[in-house]
Formats: sequence, structure tokens, C-alpha cells
Amino acid sequence: VELDRHRKTASTGGIFHPLNVKKEKLFFCLFRSSDLIQRALMDNDFMKHLEHGQILTIMDCMRPTSLTKGCCVIQEGDDGSTVYVLEEGMVEVTKEGKKLCSIGPGKVFGELAILYNCTRTATVTALTDIKLWAIDRQDFQTIMMRTGLIKYSQYTDFLRSVPSFQSLAEDVLSKLADALEENRYSDGDYIIRQGATGDTFFIISDGQVRRMRRQVQTGSDHRGGRYKQEDVRTASVTAVGDVTCLVIDRESFKQLIGGLDDGSDKQHDSDEVKAKQKLISSPGVSLS
Ligand code: CMP
Repeated sequence: VELDRHRKTASTGGIFHPLNVKKEKLFFCLFRSSDLIQRALMDNDFMKHLEHGQILTIMDCMRPTSLTKGCCVIQEGDDGSTVYVLEEGMVEVTKEGKKLCSIGPGKVFGELAILYNCTRTATVTALTDIKLWAIDRQDFQTIMMRTGLIKYSQYTDFLRSVPSFQSLAEDVLSKLADALEENRYSDGDYIIRQGATGDTFFIISDGQVRRMRRQVQTGSDHRGGRYKQEDVRTASVTAVGDVTCLVIDRESFKQLIGGLDDGSDKQHDSDEVKAKQKLISSPGVSLS
């Protein structure tokens, strides 16, 4: 980018000012770093389910740091106080003196002791001079907890406002709120495809969707195979603009709200049980 800009300035006879190039370079470096941190967090097995807001807040709290070749970044058995993202260079991970692996740029490390409140599970040593982004344990845990609690109370309030859930008891709503995952879609993305199998339940929490239905021969697909009616989606649903859905699969949903198999239960006719049964038998999209 910098070279292109330089060439353009020279060819159009524009004034080349070193300060402009410096600012541009700084902006470019920050942009590149935040992209790297974001990718690193999303690539990490233990963090890939973080929500967009959590990732942005973690990125905000990270500070850059550098260490020279040979430095011990993390010592096995220590109390952990920092989570790192490696930006430049290589580190080696060892456990009880045995090499586990080498890690290169764009990876998170030092997350296990913080996430699981245990001592450092391995030693991490700089194989080269390294550049790191670091976030303190306290900041990291506060972000995780705060966003978790905010999410929880927002979801519970939200579920209470959706007509299909209004008959469910408070403890059921709380469990549901805990288990929901957030999926984001951009304009035109398919949320559900007609004819596809699937039993995920979507609740639209933000945005609008378009529902489209093709006429098809009921009960058979184009290869002549037969599906049970409840196995396939009966319409397509696409995002109109940005859309956020809260998602849960039918099995988890059944397990969470539970207590439906006992046909002798005198509560069988209660509004709550009817509402649960209706929700389980028709997983799809709940519009709000
Ligand atoms: P933590 O236990 O906080 O500190 C040591 C870090 O080394 C650990 O977090 C992980 O990030 C990393 N680590 C531990 N074991 C492995 C492994 N088998 N492969 C890759 N990285 C590991």
C-alpha cells in the first residue's frame, strides 16, 4: 500500500510528505494487527464461540509488547496472568521438558490457565525475537463475565417478549437464555434452505428476513427419495440486510425444557406444556 501510494504520488507530481506516509503506515499496521488478533481469537478452539462484541472488547484491551529470542514467556506451573496473541516471530511450547509444538504468528496462547483457572499447563519460549499482543487476566475475565451476564439478561428479556415463549416458566426461560447461540447473517444470506434437512430453531433477535416457498411434490425429493415431513425445511428464509438470530437445536431444546414424555402428568393440559409441545413439534423460525 505504501509503495503504491509513493509511486502514485511520484507519477502524478503530487507532494510526497514523509509524515503522511508515517500516518498511513501506522493506520495500516493497526488495521493489520486488529485483523490478526480477530482471526487468532476466532481460530482458537476455546474462543471461537465468542461473540463479535466480546472479540471487539478483547481487541480493545490488548496492548503490544516485544520480547527477545530465548525469553521465557510462560513458565509451566506458574499462576497465569496474561493471554497472548503472537503477531511476529515463533515460540516453542514444551511440557516437562518435551517439545509439544512451535507456534507462529496469528495464534493465541496462554489462554488455558485463564479460562480454566488452573496453573500454566506448559512452558512457552521465544524461538526468535517476538511481537505479542497481551491482555491481563482480570480484563479478560471481566469481559467474559460482563458480556456473559449482559447477554443472559438481554436474552431472558427478549424471550419473555416473544409470544411463543410467553407461557414458559421463568426457570425454563433462564435455561433457554443460557443455551442460545448468536448467529449473524448479511443481506441475501440463506438462514434456512427449503428442502434441506435440519432441526435448528431460530429466533430473529435483530433485522428482517424474507420467506420464500417453491411448490414441490410433497414427501419426495428430486431424486425420488422420500423424507419424513418434519425432516425437511418447508421454505427458504434469507436475510434482508443484517440479521441476528438466536439459535438452538431441537435436541438441546427438548432436553432443556424437558418433562414432556410423562403423559400422565396432570399439568398436561397447562398452557406451558402446550406451548412447549408446539415449539418442539415445529422447530423453525420464530418471528418477533
Ligand atoms: P496456558 O496453560 O495458560 O499456558 C501455556 C500455554 O501453552 C497454554 O495455555 C496453551 O496456550 C499452550 N499449550 C499448552 N499445551 C499445548 C499443546 N499441546 N499444543 C499447543 N499449545 C499448547
